[in-house]
Amino acid sequence: MPEEWIKVCDEKLLKNGDLLDFDHADKKILLAKARGKVFATDRICTHAYADLATGIMNEEEKTVTCPLHLSVFKLDTGAPQNLPAEEPLKTYKVKIQDNAIYVQLG
Ligand code: FES
Repeated sequence: MPEEWIKVCDEKLLKNGDLLDFDHADKKILLAKARGKVFATDRICTHAYADLATGIMNEEEKTVTCPLHLSVFKLDTGAPQNLPAEEPLKTYKVKIQDNAIYVQLG
């Protein structure tokens, strides 16, 4: 199957410390920029239904904290760092091309 890269936005729109929500087909994606690096993960917490785009990012640690029960997820691996979440978030590859951010969804 060919890779499916989806253009999300202009690179300039995502600043360090920003969390951005992006929907494509049935996928709800979280885009995050921490210390110059862009990450993409699933946006809905794996514990219950909370939107991580309304969570809190820790740029130093490259994590996002769920706004509902405060599980912390690594942005690079999606791994939860504390309960109650036990399942990792799905992560997606990101590339910057022609000053735009692309996420590989396929
Ligand atoms: S909904 Fe995220 S930790 Fe419970």
